[in-house]
Amino acid sequence: MSEVPLHGAEYGRSTDDASRPTKWRTGRISPIYAFIATGLAVALVGAVFGAAWKYLRPAVHPTWADDELQVIESLWIANLPPLPPDPSNAVADDPRAARFGHRLFFDPRLSGNGEFACSSCHRPDLRFTDGRHIAAALGNSKRNTPSIVGTAYSPWLYWDGRKDSQWSQALSPLEDPNEQGGNRVALARLVSGDSGYRQAYTALFGAMPDLSDANRFPAAAGPIPGTPLESAWNAMNRADREAVTRVFVNIGKAIAAYERLLVPGISRFDRYVEASARGDTSLAETMLNADEAVGLRLFIGKARCIECHNGPLLTNHEFHNTGIISAPGTVPDRGRIDGIRLVRNDPFNCLGAYSDDPVKDCAELRFARTGAEVVGALRTPSLRNLQGTAPYSHQGQTPSLGQMMRHYDRAPLAMIGHNEAKPLGLNPRERAQLEAFLATLDAPLAAAPRWLAPPPGLMASL
Ligand code: HEC
Ligand code: HEC
Repeated sequence: MSEVPLHGAEYGRSTDDASRPTKWRTGRISPIYAFIATGLAVALVGAVFGAAWKYLRPAVHPTWADDELQVIESLWIANLPPLPPDPSNAVADDPRAARFGHRLFFDPRLSGNGEFACSSCHRPDLRFTDGRHIAAALGNSKRNTPSIVGTAYSPWLYWDGRKDSQWSQALSPLEDPNEQGGNRVALARLVSGDSGYRQAYTALFGAMPDLSDANRFPAAAGPIPGTPLESAWNAMNRADREAVTRVFVNIGKAIAAYERLLVPGISRFDRYVEASARGDTSLAETMLNADEAVGLRLFIGKARCIECHNGPLLTNHEFHNTGIISAPGTVPDRGRIDGIRLVRNDPFNCLGAYSDDPVKDCAELRFARTGAEVVGALRTPSLRNLQGTAPYSHQGQTPSLGQMMRHYDRAPLAMIGHNEAKPLGLNPRERAQLEAFLATLDAPLAAAPRWLAPPPGLMASL
């Protein structure tokens, strides 16, 4: 390489040459410096272009090895087994119970003030969530409203799994003073007093108790701690309390029969898997674009999402601490460590007297994982149908999926317990690709449209 004149050297020439070292006097730099400078410049330009290329070059459709294809197929909705039976609920698969439950789900008369139904927080137009950070009805709840789609597959309900069946879960919001704030005597009276409800109830569960004696059955009573409703409840005789609780439980069982119908449908991702499984890559490539497919590769590989979000619902139905920082001003959520205690002591659990299962195997409940590892652990949510369900995570602390990806990438220390996830070292493009992949998991529910709206005639009859 020849010597390269520099601007500085030209200025140097106009000064006293004798006082300068040789290179300044000549106005030239030595070949070795020129070589290094040029090398550095080339390297710099290369690095800049290289970095830009990493982000700008079009993504290439991955080709899948057999073992990868097997993993991908494990997420395919075609591999979702039929609904698991719920032996604790004798009417779980009775279509009459589903129709009854459908009405109950959308009926605001099931609340203390007549304004809030299950559907106030689980809105069909928002994939059965509510779009809020934390739920609000009569009061504020502590957590974000999850979707109920596909929960028939989960052995545990709620972020902390403090319920072990859909029917026992449904009982909580009905009496929770911050949610629907009803009480079980008033609910039994509602069903008894509405001729349609009474008919549906009787056909499924047999005769309703006679609630006409106001001395035995007050207008409102229920075991809601520290309220006048509780004293009224305690004043009732044991057999009457039991009769009312049976009606209450049956309301939950009918609602659960409806909820079992809410299952996810076939998404673009599923069509991609179907085509890939057949070896039809050109069809597959019309289903997912290259960035989405690379996102899938990250999901099952480098980003390790599949460790917890696996199976056709993209959840292992287990509890994990992922170090999500709690919302400002709130104490960190203890999660599963409290949930396991609550579900074990719940009179409506799998082992309790209200389960219809004569066998009561209840292995899930008896062998549930507990101890230090579940401190701050929350239930892995399904990743199907996340579009339009922001904000995310248990308190709605994560405003967008982009922020969720940044969270996983950083894997901060947990505020309570230990974050099981490790930093991932993803670049912004990879995070965007993961997010793009998640969007391909969206699809209309597999349920018939009539289940996704209030039952005809219900609103008119209110
Ligand atoms: C005030 C809003 C509100 C109302 C009303 C409400 N829910 Fe919820 N629902 C929530 C919140 C918040 C959670 C999560 C709470 C938690 O995990 O601690 C939840 C959780 C659930 C879950 C568990 C989902 C999962 O993935 O674990 C189901 C199922 C459910 N609700 C069904 C119902 C039914 C049935 C009714 C009516 C009887 C109802 N909800 C009424 C807010 C509400
Ligand atoms: C160690 C288990 C684990 C791993 C690994 C994991 N997740 Fe999660 N994921 C969870 C749990 C548990 C939650 C609920 C956390 C909370 O709300 O505090 C969650 C929540 C989410 C949510 C929010 C869903 C909602 O409805 O609020 C998204 C999105 C998500 N994960 C995507 C991913 C992606 C993408 C990856 C890979 C980068 C990943 N997860 C890795 C367990 C895991």
